[in-house]
Amino acid sequence: MSVIEVNNLTKSYAFGKGIFDVTFNVNSGEVVGFLGPNGAGKSTTMRHLMGFSIPDSGECKINGHDCAKEYYITKMNIGYLPGEPTLPQGLDGKAFVKMMEGLKGCHNDKLVESLCNRFELDLNQDIKKMSIGERRKLAVVTAFMSDPEVLLLDEPTSGLDPRMQEIFIEFIEEEKKRGKTILLSSHIFREVERLCDRIMIIKDGRIVASVSKDDISKGLKKTFEISFYNLASYESFSKLNYDFSERNREKLKVSIKLNNDSIDGFIKNIKNYNVKSFSEITMTLEDYFMKFYKTRGDFSE
Ligand SMILES: Nc1ncnc2c1ncn2[C@@H]1O[C@H](COP(=O)(O)OP(=O)(O)OP(=O)(O)O)[C@@H](O)[C@H]1O
Ligand SMILES: [Mg+2]
Repeated sequence: MSVIEVNNLTKSYAFGKGIFDVTFNVNSGEVVGFLGPNGAGKSTTMRHLMGFSIPDSGECKINGHDCAKEYYITKMNIGYLPGEPTLPQGLDGKAFVKMMEGLKGCHNDKLVESLCNRFELDLNQDIKKMSIGERRKLAVVTAFMSDPEVLLLDEPTSGLDPRMQEIFIEFIEEEKKRGKTILLSSHIFREVERLCDRIMIIKDGRIVASVSKDDISKGLKKTFEISFYNLASYESFSKLNYDFSERNREKLKVSIKLNNDSIDGFIKNIKNYNVKSFSEITMTLEDYFMKFYKTRGDFSE
C-alpha cells in the first residue's frame, strides 16, 4: 500500500528551475533513497510533502490525504528533518523541544531522553551557542520525538561527525525494522546503500530512474582486471570477443566486463594464457550512479 504518493507534481521557478511532472510512490515500510545533484529538486519535493509549498499542478498525498489541502492531518504523521534546519535563536534546547511538542501535539519525556542520550545532546544549551552538528542533533530529536510513521529525511547526516553518522544510520536501521516508511535524500552512497530498498534519481527537476537495490546488484556487470607475463599472451587474449573496458599494451593489462553467466567460461579460458595477476574490481552503487550525476546515463550497462 502506498503511504507517500506523488502524482505529476510540478512547481516552476524562474530560469527554468523547479520540479516537473514528478511522480513516485513509497509503500508502507519501504525506505526509498532520493538522490540527485545539487539543485535537482529533492528538497523542493520534500517541502511539498510537508505542505510548505503549493504545487503549480499535480498533487502529493500521505496516507491518502492531500499534503497541500490537508496539511494539518498529513503533518501529524510525519517526522521531517529539513536539509538546513533553521532553529529559533532565543531558546535553549529544552524550550525548543517544548515548543515543538506543543506544535506536534505530542509529549513523551522518555523518548526525548532516550533520543538525547543516543545522540549525545545536551538540551540545556542555548541554541545560538550550539555547533552545526548539535543543531542537527536537536532537529533529529524533534523530528523523531512523536515516533512518526512517515519520515522525510533531507540529507539527515550532513554536519554530523563520522561516529554520529554511524549512530544515526543504526538508528534508522532500527526504525526501518519497526516498519517506518522513509524517504531519504542523501549525497552519501554508503548511507543509501545500507538503508534503502529502492533508489530514485532526480535530475533537473525530473525523475530519471527508479530501481530496487536488488535489481542494481543483479544487473551489474563485474569487471575483471588481468595482467599477462608476455606480449604474446596479451595480444592473443586482446583479440578475443570480450567486452573490453581497457586494453593497455605497455602494461600488458586488460579489463573486461562480464555478467554472472559468463564468469565460469571466462575462468576456464584464461588458464590458456600466461596470466600474471587477475582480480575483480567491484563496482559500487556509487560507480553505478555517478553517471547520472555527470550525464543522463542509462541502466543498460
Ligand atoms: N523558493 C524558491 N524560489 C526560487 N527557486 C527555488 C526555490 N526553491 C528551490 N528553487 C530552485 O529549484 C531548484 C531545486 O532546488 P532544491 O533545493 O529542491 O534542490 P536539491 O535537490 O535539494 O539540491 P541540494 O542537493 O543542493 O540540496 C534549484 O535550482 C533551486 O534554486
Ligand atoms: Mg536540498
